[in-house]
Amino acid sequence: MSADTLAIYPGSFDPLTNGHVDIIERGARLFDRIVVAILLNVEKAPLFTVAERVEIAREVFADNPKVEVDTFDGLLVEYARRKHAGVIVRGLRAISDFEYEMQMALMNRHLNPNVETVFMMPAEPYTYVSSRLVKEVAALGGSVTNLVPRLVEERLREKKHGRQTLRA
Ligand SMILES: Nc1ncnc2c1ncn2[C@@H]1O[C@H](COP(=O)(O)OP(=O)(O)OP(=O)(O)O)[C@@H](O)[C@H]1O
Ligand SMILES: [Mg+2]
Repeated sequence: MSADTLAIYPGSFDPLTNGHVDIIERGARLFDRIVVAILLNVEKAPLFTVAERVEIAREVFADNPKVEVDTFDGLLVEYARRKHAGVIVRGLRAISDFEYEMQMALMNRHLNPNVETVFMMPAEPYTYVSSRLVKEVAALGGSVTNLVPRLVEERLREKKHGRQTLRA
């Protein structure tokens, strides 16, 4: 028997959307364990702090023992090596994701041939969901129900309320 297959699902998750949740659940069915790996210090001005994003992901997957939440910095393949992970999971929404994702996957293979990148497609309703769009819609008062977990919807509302109070 081969050892357990650990998969890493890297991203900024600012915030976690139902598209991410869909991919994580698929990964958890396919692999023995999946680590949601939140990248530190990518965006200059994220809406949610890393600590908030970790807390959200842990809460959303509290009942799934196959899902772990962690943070990482630096080269993804080095992080994968440290974790003894054999797989990197990425989601593909549309052709527009493809070129960048392919470049990244091939570069990562060049850097570490022992890690395989696996792409997964989300359920159709999530093919147009991105964290950036969710933030924009929420900031403008639009509904993001069914596009993000309920907890994220609440947190987005709190952020918006906090900002309005600050401005008042
Ligand atoms: N709705 C979705 N369906 C499938 N995969 C997704 C979806 N949203 C993001 N992903 C994938 O999840 C991984 C992490 O993405 P990331 O954290 O950048 O999310 P994002 O929604 O693209 O955020 P942003 O809008 O800030 O770029 C990437 O592989 C990305 O393609
Ligand atoms: Mg993105």
